[in-house]
Amino acid sequence: MSLIEWIELPNLGDHRGALIVAEADKIIPFEIKRLYYIFDAKPDISRGFHAHKELNQIAFCIKGKCKMLMDNGIEKQEVWIDQPNKGLLIPPMVWHEMHDFSDDCIMLVLASDHYDESDYIREYDKFLVERV
Ligand code: TYD
Repeated sequence: MSLIEWIELPNLGDHRGALIVAEADKIIPFEIKRLYYIFDAKPDISRGFHAHKELNQIAFCIKGKCKMLMDNGIEKQEVWIDQPNKGLLIPPMVWHEMHDFSDDCIMLVLASDHYDESDYIREYDKFLVERV
């Protein structure tokens, strides 16, 4: 599977404005058990720096943009998340870092499970070992 996989949500907008829909188990390839959002992020402060053992997530910038570094331990790729209907799939065992948040950025993340700190790998060396 490619390291970069986008989930494009339909825009049902019309002359009144945009309307974007995400339905679990359909266009979102998992049951959504949690969502969280990040805003007022500082442009010069990066976030993330972890991988998950089991969790699947999709990250959207519903406003503004940020850069996401994706790293599966073999290959690294950096992409801009910058469209409100285009989410980046963050599968398990991908180290990810968020950089260069725009001032207006609102990042919405859909997650396949509840928060569980034991699902996190927060040390890069550990990630490289556990990846295999
Ligand atoms: P953290 O993992 O540092 O955020 P990021 O991945 O953006 O760098 O999360 C910040 C704190 O919030 C940390 O103490 C864990 C906690 N947290 C929850 O309690 N529930 C959640 O759903 C998330 C995403 C974080």
